[in-house]
Amino acid sequence: MTAHVKACVLGWPITHSRSPMIHGYWLKKYGIEGSYVKEAVHPRDFPDFFKSLKNHGLVGGNITVPHKETAYALADEVRDCAKAIRAANTIWLDGDKICAANTDSYGYMTHLNLSAPKWNKIDSPAVILGAGGAARAIIYGLMQSGVTEIRLSNRTRNRAEELAKFFGPKVKVYDWSDNRKALAGAGILVNTTTLGMEGSDPLEIDLTSMKQDSVVSDIVYAPLETPLLAQARASGFTPVDGLGMLLHQAVPGFEKWFGVRPEVTKELRDLVVADLEGA
Ligand code: ATR
Repeated sequence: MTAHVKACVLGWPITHSRSPMIHGYWLKKYGIEGSYVKEAVHPRDFPDFFKSLKNHGLVGGNITVPHKETAYALADEVRDCAKAIRAANTIWLDGDKICAANTDSYGYMTHLNLSAPKWNKIDSPAVILGAGGAARAIIYGLMQSGVTEIRLSNRTRNRAEELAKFFGPKVKVYDWSDNRKALAGAGILVNTTTLGMEGSDPLEIDLTSMKQDSVVSDIVYAPLETPLLAQARASGFTPVDGLGMLLHQAVPGFEKWFGVRPEVTKELRDLVVADLEGA
């Protein structure tokens, strides 16, 4: 009999996570004897929970807000770009060691390459709004793909300054009130702030100074079409939604825990979209 393999998503709060739905779909599809559960762990209890993963019967899991930096710091071994991003969203056991990686960059870039394949032919500056963990992962991914100028704008300017210092001179900081200046001649815009999310204010921004054929992407996926994406579509730009990043970032973790590289299918996407729309 094959042993039951259990993975989880660790966060605080964790109620709205769609990760169990994604991994549950794959477990069923590939006929794997396993489960993927939600674990709501308060920041105070996170280090103990993390260190005793094995005692909880877990082989690993995803790490979400607010634990990504702590997971990075606590891991016995940090792999791939988690080193550059200094945050981990995927962990797994390797013997008694806990390994950590960051798949947010992979998730964002894979979705961008699939849904707007011409984006990197634009050869123009990229604009990133926001300076949290997601911004850090996306800046890393864009720089790895050869983007030579990244304009970064965040409500709290010093968080943007810190990121610019971390990534070097290719990242230039713009005042939050200077969004329009940052967008002049830009070829891609990425919103990594929470503006536009259900229950939050929309992102007020004038896109008219962006290059023709620009890509406008949002990492917010609830709603699926944020006001920013609707505005981009109406202006003739290519909108790239946030759901694809969520789906693709899940792939490497599933493969680590359950031994099968899963596919992001239309059926999976439709399942999550239906859930988002029904929520
Ligand atoms: P994550 O790690 O998931 O990216 P985060 O660190 O909480 O999340 O970052 C959220 C981003 O949304 C931040 O850039 C935040 O700006 P501040 O650094 O100024 O807090 C941005 N954000 C949240 N609410 C905002 C608002 N009302 N207006 C502008 N930016 C906002």
